[in-house]
Amino acid sequence: MSRIRIPQPPASEITPEAVWQSRRRWLGQAALLGMVAGTTPRALAASTPDASLPDLSGKPNGRFSVMEKPNAWDDITGYNNFYEFGTDKEDPRRHAGRMVTEPWTVEVGGEVLKPRTFDIDALRKLAPMEERIYRLRCVEAWSMVIPWVGYSLAELLKQVQPTGNARYVTFETALQPEAMPGVKRRIIDWPYIEALRIDEAMHPLTLLVFGVYGKVLPNQNGAPLRLAVPWKYGFKSAKSIVRIRLVEEQPVSSWMKAAPAEYGFYANVNPDVRHPRWSQATERRIGDHLFAPRVRTQMFNGYGEWVAPLYAGMDLARDF
Ligand code: MTE
Repeated sequence: MSRIRIPQPPASEITPEAVWQSRRRWLGQAALLGMVAGTTPRALAASTPDASLPDLSGKPNGRFSVMEKPNAWDDITGYNNFYEFGTDKEDPRRHAGRMVTEPWTVEVGGEVLKPRTFDIDALRKLAPMEERIYRLRCVEAWSMVIPWVGYSLAELLKQVQPTGNARYVTFETALQPEAMPGVKRRIIDWPYIEALRIDEAMHPLTLLVFGVYGKVLPNQNGAPLRLAVPWKYGFKSAKSIVRIRLVEEQPVSSWMKAAPAEYGFYANVNPDVRHPRWSQATERRIGDHLFAPRVRTQMFNGYGEWVAPLYAGMDLARDF
């Protein structure tokens, strides 16, 4: 563990509390203005979190949050990629309610001194919850802004004490064929597997997510726990994790296995490296009106000042 250097964000990226507070006020006022301007009741309902879900709040972390208006609840929970439930964006909301998320355990093992199986309740109490507003940039060239609730994955990894051989971390996600109509099709080799290099996994931006918008995660967003790795394409952020293994050799993730020419191990957001079938230079912000201009994609999804040092000396066109 002591060999791992965790980079800290430069001071220029730190949002002062006052700015953060005024931004929250602005968001409140914007919501109010929407009402005055005659926003339809349907649109208002769609932007409000589902009241039937239990609350899960976190202390706002302004330092790690972007100064952008979060997407509406309906965008975040109704336009999803969770292929276990089907490939249409509406499939996860339609079918994920059948996934069993209670009881839930996460086995953490491999190259660690203290392998352990954690119960979800123990994981929720492991470290203080924070609210972080992250950009999510999907490899399909769309994006959203999402107020996640969770804590840095490093908090969990520290508990199991990685050995000096732990160079990568793999994440295996739930496979419940009865509840998951999508796994009947062999789109990928199920279960969905993703992986990070150990320094990426230990980076404070890498978030273990338990909630969104002050509520526990809805199933379609990866209940009861998932990753959010904001500088990488969304597919690296594995949902509904059941097993974490620290390993020595670079793992082959599900998407690398399915289409090695299209999906690399790193999957860092990079406007200069095309997906073989489309450009990654711009993105569509979900929720924008039909004629809104596309957004220019930023290197590392705008988190470069914090994470670029992780890739110093690497050819990111080759290690895509
Ligand atoms: N995790 C699992 N288990 N299965 C999936 O299909 N899709 C990934 C990622 N995690 C996926 C997954 C992709 S492609 C994206 S863009 C994000 O989840 C989407 O997260 P969201 O639906 O919460 O926005």
